[in-house]
Amino acid sequence: MTTDKLGYQAPSEIKELDIVNTYDLEKQAGELLPKGGFDYIAGGAGDEYTLKQNIDAFNLKRILPRVLADVEYPKTQTSIFGQDIPSPIIMAPIAAHGLAHQSKEVGTAKGVSEYGTILTISTYSGSDFDETAKVVNDTPKWFQLYMSKDNEVNKAILDEAKADGASAIILTADATTMGNREKDKRNAFVFPFDMPIVSRHLRKSVEDQLLNIIYMESKQKITVEDVRFIAEYSELPVMVKGIQSPEDALKAIEAGAAGIWVSNHGGRQLDGAPASFETLASISEVVAKRVPIIFDSGVRRGEHVFKALASGADIVAIGRPVLYGLALGGWKGVTSVFNYFEKDLKRIMQLAGTQTIEDIKNTELF
Ligand code: LAC
Repeated sequence: MTTDKLGYQAPSEIKELDIVNTYDLEKQAGELLPKGGFDYIAGGAGDEYTLKQNIDAFNLKRILPRVLADVEYPKTQTSIFGQDIPSPIIMAPIAAHGLAHQSKEVGTAKGVSEYGTILTISTYSGSDFDETAKVVNDTPKWFQLYMSKDNEVNKAILDEAKADGASAIILTADATTMGNREKDKRNAFVFPFDMPIVSRHLRKSVEDQLLNIIYMESKQKITVEDVRFIAEYSELPVMVKGIQSPEDALKAIEAGAAGIWVSNHGGRQLDGAPASFETLASISEVVAKRVPIIFDSGVRRGEHVFKALASGADIVAIGRPVLYGLALGGWKGVTSVFNYFEKDLKRIMQLAGTQTIEDIKNTELF
């Protein structure tokens, strides 16, 4: 282990993981990581009601076993924006991977590209985007943007993302102010390393307490005009992330969103919000297949991926479990997490009598 600026020691081991389930991964990561970093990753807002509901709500719907469905070796291949991927499972954008592992986002990127799915990179990445981009080959890179109050900063970040090979932009619309993270407050948590993209453009460094700066600088009044602006300025497909209501989904599509990202930020923003899964079906109904739906928040098992796809999602994004994989096994741990989800999904597909991802989408939950 090496030491970061503020004495933070992230693990550095690289190994494949034998995963029983992702709850075990969380527990093991909790035993390994410094408390401040683990609490920041694992924690949610307020009472953490929404954080828990995100997982529990998957039990509100059941999967009916189909035993005479003539299915064998289900196939998980799918595509989005014309890009073929081995399964509908991608990673959710997350800040500061260096809290989990010394290799930071570079490690995650290698693990994701080894599995062959889409890489998402946060504005609050601890590795520079061009560094991260270098370790992957033709892996598609989606850049996640937190908007600043200063539009020149937004433009500069978008220019850089494009120059470094971003093929789509994810606009996070639900982080206009910081959720109430009581664990972080108690731990007096600060990011222990610079985040080059933010530091460069906001001209702030870790000593300025980036976490606070970021939220002070973040744009609160995000509107359809911003969606239009980003789409026109970047000339890339824009997904609006943090959608939890049919009304917002419709507004985003009208403004030119190329994708709707259903998420409640992993229960980290508005505590007391419904589980993300509970909001999915009604959003899918109004989206009516006009644009793809990406879903996250609470996905811990293949069963959850299946239920999200059967409720209208086209792609499912995994957040915390990817970082736990990174913590426990570096890039190999990340690949292990994706392999775990794919294997678990295939098992559910077989038992539910679904041969393809399209079959899951046509499944009615019980
Ligand atoms: C968070 C911010 C960085 O959830 O999106 O902590």
